[in-house]
Amino acid sequence: MDTDNLKIYRGIIDNRTLMTLYSFINKGLIDKVIGIVKEGKESGVFLAKDKNQNNVAIKIYRTLASDFKAMWRYLIGDKRFSNIRKNRTSVIFSWCLREYKNLKTCYEAGVSCPMPIYAKNNVLLMSFVGDEHPAPRLIDVSAKKKDYEFILKQIELMFKAGIVHGDLSAYNILLYKKPVIIDFSHGISVKSLSAPSMLKKDIQNINSYFSKLGIKTKDEKKIYEKLVGLYD
Ligand SMILES: Nc1ncnc2c1ncn2[C@@H]1O[C@H](COP(=O)(O)OP(=O)(O)OP(=O)(O)O)[C@@H](O)[C@H]1O
Ligand SMILES: [Mg+2]
Repeated sequence: MDTDNLKIYRGIIDNRTLMTLYSFINKGLIDKVIGIVKEGKESGVFLAKDKNQNNVAIKIYRTLASDFKAMWRYLIGDKRFSNIRKNRTSVIFSWCLREYKNLKTCYEAGVSCPMPIYAKNNVLLMSFVGDEHPAPRLIDVSAKKKDYEFILKQIELMFKAGIVHGDLSAYNILLYKKPVIIDFSHGISVKSLSAPSMLKKDIQNINSYFSKLGIKTKDEKKIYEKLVGLYD
């Protein structure tokens, strides 16, 4: 068990977050934290080992720097989270919980995404995509036509499971043998008012990435209508 090295990530790991991480250790969910994989505006992602020395990813939402008012607006538009209170802590904890729930729903529906393990407060634990380093993002590589087909299939699986990803792009897909969708915090229930526009945007982003690579893409409207037709 080793958490001393975490103290240097003060901007992400405040005292309460450290306590949350200790509770993960006490539950036997993690053994030691290896180091940071990516530090972003809203969160930091760490590589850790579980007690069998398997790699796991820890995503920690910043409790201070986050724009919790914007998060609150997104959350109340989601039927599942429309009642949450507008204070920083409950918004950030719900944001993290929403990512966990979305991952769980999608993972159980067979979507290619990390396996969710546990979430508490602002900390989400999931399987690590990659070996000792995270797999490259789609934006860092040149994906193939078969990856395009595969991603469209994942959008369909998510939609059938009741979720629109809402932030799907070549930045939120890793390529680890096959495409793996990540970053589910914007994921919204298909029944929400903003689901149609978010779904259109997701399809547009994916088509635009593949067209730039010279890969022939399907008509956005047709993809959208086929999906929406699943609910008629
Ligand atoms: N399960 C995972 N396994 C390996 N690497 C991961 C995993 N989840 C995230 N990463 C790495 O961390 C980076 C950032 O993750 P992610 O896209 O979820 O967060 P973000 O864009 O900072 O977050 P957000 O928009 O939710 O604030 C990814 O590009 C990837 O390199
Ligand atoms: Mg991201």
